[in-house]
Amino acid sequence: MATELRFLTPEQREFFHREGYLVIEGFWSPETVLKLRDKIKKILKDLAPAESAVETIFTTKEQIRQSDNYFLESGDCIRFFWEEKARDDNKKFVQAPEDCVNKIGHSLHDLDADFRDVSYEKRVGMICRDLGLSIPLAVQSMYIFKQAHIGGAVDAHQDGAFLYTEPQSVLGFWWALNDCTVDNGCLWAVPKSHEWGMHRRFKRKTPPDEGTEWLPAEQTIAWDLSGAVPLEVSAGSLVLIHHSLVHYSAPNNSDNARHAYSIHVVDGMYHYPADNWLRKNNGPFNTIP
Ligand code: FE2
Repeated sequence: MATELRFLTPEQREFFHREGYLVIEGFWSPETVLKLRDKIKKILKDLAPAESAVETIFTTKEQIRQSDNYFLESGDCIRFFWEEKARDDNKKFVQAPEDCVNKIGHSLHDLDADFRDVSYEKRVGMICRDLGLSIPLAVQSMYIFKQAHIGGAVDAHQDGAFLYTEPQSVLGFWWALNDCTVDNGCLWAVPKSHEWGMHRRFKRKTPPDEGTEWLPAEQTIAWDLSGAVPLEVSAGSLVLIHHSLVHYSAPNNSDNARHAYSIHVVDGMYHYPADNWLRKNNGPFNTIP
């Protein structure tokens, strides 16, 4: 007997399982989009002075270690990460500091009321269950800026390599907060690539070693990206991403920023190994109702 769907249509669910992704236009109202963009402006204003002290260009081993810790312990914080091209050779910001932030991670969904509302709203839980997650746990969130002029590329990857459960279960929610085009660095997806399998993991090193590593260190299969399609979606649209879908985005060389908000959800039915890079130290992951 077919499972009763809660939010998705049978066609939408079928598309997701066949292609590895799904676009839902107009998921958020223009008011919601505006509210979140305004909220992030306020967060930037409140946190920027303290956070701008954290260097992004590291040369010594000790600095690399601090950088790793800043990233590795961000699972239950609201932290800033800078664009690679944020500073010039003299370490000066190349544009206003607030226009040099690459992303804010990784716990807006738990620590900020507005982002909590949209991350734990009922429709999100319904979609998770429609796509087979029994106990959807929100493990991380990111506000991605893809800044005008300096917004960097995100290389082709599979989300399940970064957030790993046994068996794989991570589901990506990615909301556009600006209209996304090829020019401003929209997402690109390789349809059906979720069937290629996953051959490596990004994980914490085994103590007493510190930091992270890829296992195996080298990519073992060469991905054919020739069939990739640009996901040019309007602000407020939602893109759902299968754990094994190969996806990426190009740099933003345009005059317009391309903001997005994303969360990643895993199934609490499955084992979440402690060597996942993302760790929450202030309690268990929360269930999406
Ligand atoms: Fe991703």
